[in-house]
Parts: sequence; C-alpha cells; structure tokens
Amino acid sequence: MTQDELKQKVAQAALAYIKDISIIGVGTGSTTNHFINMLADFKNDIEGAVSSSEGTSERLKKVGIRVLDLNEAGTLEVYIDGADEINPRKQLVKGGGGALTREKIIAQASKKFICIADDSKSVDVLGKFPLPVEVIPMARSFVAREMVKLGGQPVWRESCITDNHNHIIDVHNLSILDPIELEKTINNIPGVVTVGLFAIRPADVVLIGKGDQVVTL
Ligand code: A5P
Repeated sequence: MTQDELKQKVAQAALAYIKDISIIGVGTGSTTNHFINMLADFKNDIEGAVSSSEGTSERLKKVGIRVLDLNEAGTLEVYIDGADEINPRKQLVKGGGGALTREKIIAQASKKFICIADDSKSVDVLGKFPLPVEVIPMARSFVAREMVKLGGQPVWRESCITDNHNHIIDVHNLSILDPIELEKTINNIPGVVTVGLFAIRPADVVLIGKGDQVVTL
C-alpha cells in the first residue's frame, strides 16, 4: 500500500468513532483531508464540525458540513486529527501544517482525541521531526534564543503566517526524552503561543496504518 492509501485506510477506520455524535472536532493535514472527504456521506447525520484551520473549514464546507464555533459547541465528544510524530505513549508532535494552536485547543476541549496516521509517523523518541512553536511575531528572535538554550536549533518558517497571524519556529535536533516537562517549559516562555508537543493532553486512541492493516494503540 502507498503512504496515501494508508492515510485513507486510517481515515476510514476513524469513521467508527463518530457514530451517533452530532458535533465533531476536525484537524488539519493530508490524513485528515481524507477523513473530511469521507464525511460527505454523513452530512445528514452530523449537526456540524469545529474546525482547526481555515483550510479545514473550507474543505468541510465543500463537502456539505456546517462549520461551528467552539464557543457555541462546548465540550466536544470526539476530535479526529493527524500527527507528525507519535510515540508509544500516544504523545505527539504536531504543527507541520501550521495549525497547532487551534488543534491544541480543540484536542483539549474534546473528551476523546483519535489520532490517525500512517506508520512513518511512529517513533520511540519524539524530536526527529522539527518541533513547531507558534510565536507572537515580535518575540520570534527572543524565543529562538531560548530554544538554543534548550539545546535545539531554531529555524524560522519564513513562508508561514498562521491563521492567528503569528509566526512559526521549527526547532531541530531536540531529543525529547520528557515530553511533558518540555511542553511545560516551552509553554512558559513569554511570546510562545503554542508548542506543537501534545503530551500533557496526548491522544486517547491512535490508529496507525501499517502494512495493509490498521493497528490501534
Ligand atoms: C497540522 O498542523 C499538523 O498538526 C498535522 O496534523 C500534521 O502535520 C499531520 O499532517 P499529515 O496528515 O499531512 O501528515
């Protein structure tokens, strides 16, 4: 199976988790896009979706799903999203697509977070994928210097302005042995909006496409 076919397979498997749920949270990225396409068949069963990015909102509307404001939706039953890295404790690195802040808000506001990914995202230790950090633009260089102090190599993602009008720094060469502690440390730096570590609130279920199977963690 190709990587894209595996993404489709896990997206399909995630449909089992939205049965009888009227409002769902929807993430961002190529794996989630497959899931959104499949939602077209459920447009009459779902009241709407809370979206993690402008891109996802557009796609949802295209397939006939109403986009709802999280403020009105309240606590969500389920959130479906991809990841850039996943460790065996279901802790994640996210933000490769730049949507980490809204993704983290929705993950935290949801009772169940279902992560869908192909096997290339599975790692023992997080950090090979550069860790995205969304920052207030004026704090970019300051936060970058703080990342150097933590042992990382920060690179400004120059082509990217987030949906929240902020900048992103990708931090290379981190070996993240204690994801919860690092998440707290980076969260505490003034100017940081969100770090793309999802460890304090990890996924509840991870569906990994491996070979021609879907493995559930
Ligand atoms: C978006 O900001 C990310 O967190 C995505 O969830 C992540 O990059 C996974 O994307 P793919 O499904 O395209 O690999």
